[in-house]
Amino acid sequence: MALKNINPTKTIAWEKLMTHFEKIKNDHLKELKENQPNRKKDFSIQFQDLEVNFSNNRISENTLKLLIELAQETGLKDAIHKYFSGDIINVTENRAVLHTALRDKASQKIEVNQKNIIPEISETLQKIENFTNNVLSGNWKGFSGKSITDVVNIGIGGSDLGPQMVVESLKYYKTPLNIHFVSNIDGDHVQETLKKLNPETTLFLIVSKTFTTQETLTNALTIKKWFLESALEIDIEKHFVAVSTNLNMVKDFGVAEENIFPMWDWVGGRFSLWSAVGLSISLAVGFDNFNQLLVGAHQMDTHFKNSPFDKNIPVVLALISIWYNNFFETETEVILPYTEYLKTLAPYLQQAIMESNGKSVDRNGNKVDYQTGNIIWGSTGTNAQHAFIQLLHQGTKLIPADFIGFKESLYGLTEHHQKLMANFYAQIQALSEGKTKEEVHLDMKVSGQFDQIQTLIPFKVFEGNKPSNTILFNKLTPQNLGILIAMYEHKIFVQGVIWNIYSYDQFGVELGKELATKIYSKN
Ligand code: F6P
Repeated sequence: MALKNINPTKTIAWEKLMTHFEKIKNDHLKELKENQPNRKKDFSIQFQDLEVNFSNNRISENTLKLLIELAQETGLKDAIHKYFSGDIINVTENRAVLHTALRDKASQKIEVNQKNIIPEISETLQKIENFTNNVLSGNWKGFSGKSITDVVNIGIGGSDLGPQMVVESLKYYKTPLNIHFVSNIDGDHVQETLKKLNPETTLFLIVSKTFTTQETLTNALTIKKWFLESALEIDIEKHFVAVSTNLNMVKDFGVAEENIFPMWDWVGGRFSLWSAVGLSISLAVGFDNFNQLLVGAHQMDTHFKNSPFDKNIPVVLALISIWYNNFFETETEVILPYTEYLKTLAPYLQQAIMESNGKSVDRNGNKVDYQTGNIIWGSTGTNAQHAFIQLLHQGTKLIPADFIGFKESLYGLTEHHQKLMANFYAQIQALSEGKTKEEVHLDMKVSGQFDQIQTLIPFKVFEGNKPSNTILFNKLTPQNLGILIAMYEHKIFVQGVIWNIYSYDQFGVELGKELATKIYSKN
């Protein structure tokens, strides 16, 4: 059964939120915090190793209550049930949305079109494990009898960004294999990668759900040609592996049948890193770590499925984001992980969030007259502090931020980590509390800058009242990364449900593809 079809702006909760917004819109976070002594405790949710503190948001208890009413009135509970049960909620593509099943080791049965999908998920995981162990142990030999040293993932969009982000984020847990990613149709990207590689010891993973993507096929053909300059057709089976739903096209390309890993149409490309699309992850960090990633994601799934809305991390984060997007009329959200390991999280989330919720037609097929998906951007702290953070503090735009931090570092350089986290908390506080005229005046007096006080005060004031979420884990582990990614996946889902849009299609990418093909054929 499809999702309900309710215009959020026509609900009673929306009406109440509009009235409430007029009352609260100018309240300052500093006062909100002073007036609610237990605010941090009241506005935090602890789950496993994760603590989400949303007290630095321009909300009161009443805001949250009304937002939850909005979720209830728009049928979120029913939608969550349909999402996990494999209902055809991706109506425009006539598909279920079941990336959650890929990490569900507890269920015996999840059906898509009356077929239980659990056995094929387990079989594929087993195949990923065997393949990974075979390559890592050195048993898998290249055409000249040498073991594999390098792996190239050839894919784009969801067949690149997710695996690439996880491989980068879990670099600390790396196996001896070097993993490379080729995505862009820019031939220089391919050449720059190939020039570092030896065909005898390199494995190529062609990852494409459809196996029709121009970039991936062009890159795969160029690479095959390069490979055949040193090897024979028969050697392809030792060096080319594919992940796809399109078995015929993969076979036509020349990949041996036993080297094909399945994909399914009930997994969206941008949510597919948990499937064999994540083969590069398993090779990069070992199957056990890949499995831990799935374990973490499944824990978040269970939390999301079973927790009441006010204690439900993805639900609360989604609602707060709607509050800014639709009432404060913010346009963007910034992602600020305080670890270099997560430097590709923002590009990954850009696809996951913007390809999903960048829609302007509702589930009735009508143009919406309210805002939907926001613009996602970001970079790591503290680098961001020396780049764009100025605009967050003193610019004219209101930009809600997600600060993602870890209590412990991986290598244990304590002094560095203490300084890193001091910056993390300093930014959150500076954004929310700001610095008043009086405080600036006093500071300048103390430092003896008497002459400049009157001229500089306006430039040195920080208005504050800039919102953020604090997303804090103990440590960056595969399991915690799984929790983090699944948290954002469910946030996307909740927002799509409430905005009454279809989050799991992406027709918006088609026109450009069509025109590029036409323009190219005229050359
Ligand atoms: O750009 C559109 C898109 O379909 C994405 O949704 C997808 O992740 C990407 O292209 C790659 O698709 P495929 O895995 O089929 O090559």
